[in-house]
Amino acid sequence: MRIVRTVSEVRAAVTGARSGGGIVGLVPTMGALHDGHLSLIRAARAENDLVVMSLFVNPTQFGPNEDLAAYPRDEARDAELAEGAGADILFAPPVAEVYPHGFSTSIHISGITEVLDGAHRGAEHFDGVATVVTKLFHMVAPDAAYFGQKDAQQVLVIRRLVRDLDVPVRIIACPIVREPDGLAMSSRNVYLDPEARERATALNRALDAAEAAVAAGERSAGAVIDAARTVLVAADIDPEYLELRSPDDLRELDRVDGEALLAVAARVGAARLIDNRILEATP
Ligand code: PAF
Repeated sequence: MRIVRTVSEVRAAVTGARSGGGIVGLVPTMGALHDGHLSLIRAARAENDLVVMSLFVNPTQFGPNEDLAAYPRDEARDAELAEGAGADILFAPPVAEVYPHGFSTSIHISGITEVLDGAHRGAEHFDGVATVVTKLFHMVAPDAAYFGQKDAQQVLVIRRLVRDLDVPVRIIACPIVREPDGLAMSSRNVYLDPEARERATALNRALDAAEAAVAAGERSAGAVIDAARTVLVAADIDPEYLELRSPDDLRELDRVDGEALLAVAARVGAARLIDNRILEATP
């Protein structure tokens, strides 16, 4: 695996692979890799000739009171893990390569960015994500890009920007990877002390409870959400949001008919965690 830091180097590597008829997969990350990221690299490895993983802690997607300075960074460890999972190129640009002096462009996607995380972290969060992902698509020009379904809203935002701006890339969403006790893997899990780590399992258990309610025939959004909320309250977790929305366009649902996205965000100890589940009502 090669580590490259400039746009011209990554482009040269991609052009080389393309000239031999190769197809290129991109796995965008902010590092602090865990098994969720590695599952994305493995998926990209299985489907592409060249796998590029980007490692860039994107400052523009962090709010003023968020954890940009504290965000875990260990490039040597990430490089070793990325190589082991099958990445060919690690693209780790410095901030000035991505945002040169005078940078003044921002991509804003309306509607779907204004709810859930957009409502709680501020619209700038998804502006930052959309802008950096658009730039990565232009820098690397991948055939396919791989994202984790844990960030369900992020996946929808990226699908929308690709559609609206006619970006020629396939977006692949990979399943959430969980710890043995159900906690969704996240780079922010390192902020959890043992007591918070234990309570954090309630997020997945809350989603299980909602799923069980739907499986038992419950269709009212209020009742399904209450089933999940009861589990969170028992673990002393007050969610930032716990909402049932359309998995296609994030409009709020009052019933589960077909597929519904149950999304949750909560502060547990020092970490802000998110999780979600697609609930399916079979007729
Ligand atoms: O999901 C992430 O890690 C980031 O939001 C992404 C997609 C790499 C953009 O910075």
